[in-house]
Amino acid sequence: MMKILVTGASGTLGRAALPRLRADGFDVRATSRHPRHDPGTDWAVVDLATGAGLAEAVAGVDAVLHLASLPNSRHTHQVDVLGTRRLLLAAGRAGVGHLVYVSIVGVDRVPFRYYRHKLAAEQAVTAGPVPWTVLRATQFLPFVDVLLRTASRFGPVVGDPAMLAQPVDQHEVAGRLAERLTAGPLCGVEEYGGPQVLRFDEAVRAWRAARGSRRPLLPVRFPGRLGRALRAGGLTTTATPTGRRTWADHLVDTTG
Ligand SMILES: NC(=O)c1ccc[n+]([C@@H]2O[C@H](COP(=O)([O-])OP(=O)(O)OC[C@H]3O[C@@H](n4cnc5c(N)ncnc54)[C@H](OP(=O)(O)O)[C@@H]3O)[C@@H](O)[C@H]2O)c1
Repeated sequence: MMKILVTGASGTLGRAALPRLRADGFDVRATSRHPRHDPGTDWAVVDLATGAGLAEAVAGVDAVLHLASLPNSRHTHQVDVLGTRRLLLAAGRAGVGHLVYVSIVGVDRVPFRYYRHKLAAEQAVTAGPVPWTVLRATQFLPFVDVLLRTASRFGPVVGDPAMLAQPVDQHEVAGRLAERLTAGPLCGVEEYGGPQVLRFDEAVRAWRAARGSRRPLLPVRFPGRLGRALRAGGLTTTATPTGRRTWADHLVDTTG
């Protein structure tokens, strides 16, 4: 049975990945910065910011699924870039045969600060000592929900109506990752997105209807290179296969 170490296993994608990997017959060890106990999972305490717990966590592991990340923090570089290097070194020393890194569609062309760190982490993976696969996913469906709640915290939903997104179900991303772990190192970058490219104003309209919200859209044209990249579809991909669950499916399933 193949033993997989999942970093960031308590996060949105990690919570979808653990049951999927177990169902596919993998032996799973999961990491968190905090001690966790649940009967079905072998949890190891690891902090990528310091490297604490890494050597023990990678011992005896066949492959690593690296999901841990600390977006938009002053410690992002420490965790995402230096932490990924620490993980690669430990995994290389332990003879791990495959590391799958989850990145984001657009890290190479959309100038968000977080994406610079993700791209640097990708580069560490591709130049590192462990055979690798990079899977770039688009935004997860619940993340878009959180973004819209945040964008409307002062009343209207503020955003660039023409920016494009292609949200994907995190459980389907987990399924793709399980397939990649079974297939072995791709030594390449694969993209994976949702079934539809949506304009921001369409996504907001569907969200408002589903949630019974009267909040109007306050259109703001994002300036400069960032705005151009978002409107040109920098966060979307033409890669196939795609996930199947749509934004509308997500809204139906999560509206009480
Ligand atoms: N969210 C999206 O829409 C999206 C889209 C495409 C790709 N991605 C990528 O997919 C991956 C997973 O995303 P997600 O949304 O599931 O993230 P998330 O919910 O924020 O979870 C990330 C996990 O990273 C762990 N972490 C944070 N700092 C750490 C540290 N110093 N050492 C070790 N672990 C640490 C945390 O676990 P503990 O608190 O338990 O330590 C946390 O649960 C990320 O790499 C992200 O860039 C996300």
